[in-house]
Amino acid sequence: MEQILALFAIFLAFAFSGKCSDVFSRSDYPEGFVFGAGTSAYQWEGAAAEDGRKPSLWDTLCHSRDQGNGDIACDGYHKYKDDVKLMVDTNLDAFRFSISWSRLIPNGRGPVNQKGLQFYKNLIQELVSHGIEPHVTLYHYDHPQSLEDEYGGWLNHRMIKDFTTYADVCFREFGNHVKLWTTINEANIFSIGGYNDGDTPPGRCSKPSKNCSSGNSSIEPYIVGHNLLLAHASVSRRYKQKYKDKQGGSIGFSLFILGLIPTTSSKDDATATQRAQDFYVGWFLRPLLFGDYPDTMKRTIGSRLPVFSEKESEQVKGSCDFVGVIHYHAASVTNIKSKPSLSGNPDFYSYMETDFGKSLDFQYANTPWAMEVVLEYIKQSYGNPPVYILESAKFTFQWQQIGTPMKQDSQLKQKDIPRVEYLHAYIGGVLKSIRNGSDTRGYFVWSFMDLYELLGGYEVGFGLYTVNFSDPHRKRSPKLSAYWYSDFLKGESAFLDSQGIKELQSKYSSSF
Ligand SMILES: *[C@@H]1O[C@H](CO)[C@@H](O)[C@H](O)[C@H]1NC(C)=O
Ligand SMILES: *[C@@H]1O[C@H](CO)[C@@H](O)[C@H](O)[C@H]1NC(C)=O
Ligand SMILES: *[C@@H]1O[C@H](CO)[C@@H](O)[C@H](O)[C@H]1NC(C)=O
Ligand SMILES: *[C@@H]1O[C@H](CO)[C@@H](O)[C@H](O)[C@H]1NC(C)=O
Repeated sequence: MEQILALFAIFLAFAFSGKCSDVFSRSDYPEGFVFGAGTSAYQWEGAAAEDGRKPSLWDTLCHSRDQGNGDIACDGYHKYKDDVKLMVDTNLDAFRFSISWSRLIPNGRGPVNQKGLQFYKNLIQELVSHGIEPHVTLYHYDHPQSLEDEYGGWLNHRMIKDFTTYADVCFREFGNHVKLWTTINEANIFSIGGYNDGDTPPGRCSKPSKNCSSGNSSIEPYIVGHNLLLAHASVSRRYKQKYKDKQGGSIGFSLFILGLIPTTSSKDDATATQRAQDFYVGWFLRPLLFGDYPDTMKRTIGSRLPVFSEKESEQVKGSCDFVGVIHYHAASVTNIKSKPSLSGNPDFYSYMETDFGKSLDFQYANTPWAMEVVLEYIKQSYGNPPVYILESAKFTFQWQQIGTPMKQDSQLKQKDIPRVEYLHAYIGGVLKSIRNGSDTRGYFVWSFMDLYELLGGYEVGFGLYTVNFSDPHRKRSPKLSAYWYSDFLKGESAFLDSQGIKELQSKYSSSF
């Protein structure tokens, strides 16, 4: 009897640890939950001037700076069949990639480039025939440069029509096989990085806080954000009118979302955190889910924030079937007592810091609770919409290091234990959120292989696979994280303490 009780106690302890600690397997996730990994066109395809593709604003920015470019990148344009094989080896359910607008419709509007069209058809066919679900992003920082030159790209209302026409071609040509579409990648970072900071395409900003050759950091981020929302709504409407009944897919919008927490338990820090959420995320999610910008933004930015007409508000509201979350890590928010002044030409950050100043302190350590913070925030503040985590990765660098080449030992690079620990912890965090009611439906590792990165170029390497960028054949090799993910997706339970890591390493030691 005692023995039985003891056994029972052990069983209970195990069951308990299974629920509350770090043991889980993919069968714990809801039916239909997709696991994948991603890339984007400019970062992966290469073949930048081949078969009729013309430059996008990302090509233009890279070629005006000396930090590498995506001319060849991973050469995915030629190697996609090999890459789909690797996806099969990795047991991926889904592959997230983007379509290059300037490859499909090189002048932005007008004739479709047949070779570009064929490439995407071939890629999608290859995926589908191997049982891998394509998840397509329509816009990943890269509209044709000709539209930028002609009328200023996203600063101009005309983009809405051109973007909708381009999206229509994608739905018509690829929609039989593609069921998950994201219109705009990381709309908040595109607006802030491209029009406030000037670090990312199209590289616009203004004095006093920044110094670009052109731009206006006090108004352009908001104009661009507004046009992105209207363009998304227009594309979503088009899909519902012409394609949804036949194709049955979903249209989402994606944002970069930090796991923000107040630095202290003070009321001021809590308010500053809420305010930072409004400026980074509410800026887009409130219009998409409730039809208008957050009050904090309207109050602070005043007449520089565009206004939705009643009709536009109705069109934007409810236009996304899911929220695409791009999440890397946590940041703590501290209220700063001295208010920045709004005189002169304030930028995005000065607006965000007025009333209640705040400062962000990025946390690069593994903070798996950050994933739960994000998913809880979306659930509680926005009525629990469906969510796909479209990117998630461990930062292998800090923002301050960008531009400083990081010498990575290739052995260390491949035995990427920190990435394995990150994935284990964050994928576990997703499960906890789902068990607490979050409607999260998928998780995509960023990135499938090392890519040309927007910040950090070829130095940062987020991939499950390394790519030898000095090798003309761009040889790919699995990192330890690829083996771990593959095992996890095969159904092996994930339990990573130091013993688990040792076992993983010894299992794959002959591979390195
Ligand atoms: C701003 O950029 C211009 C052109 O690159 C340069 O000449 C000038 O010194 C810069 N000003 C500041 C304040 O950095
Ligand atoms: C930015 O636009 C605002 C509003 O039109 C204007 O007051 C300001 O002078 C502009 N700033 C720059 C740097 O052009
Ligand atoms: C779980 O969800 C409830 C209801 O939304 C919420 O109050 C609670 O804070 C959540 N728990 C965690 C650990 O996030
Ligand atoms: C990368 O490729 C180059 C050229 O083929 C080769 O010399 C080098 O050893 C490779 N690097 C690694 C880490 O395999």
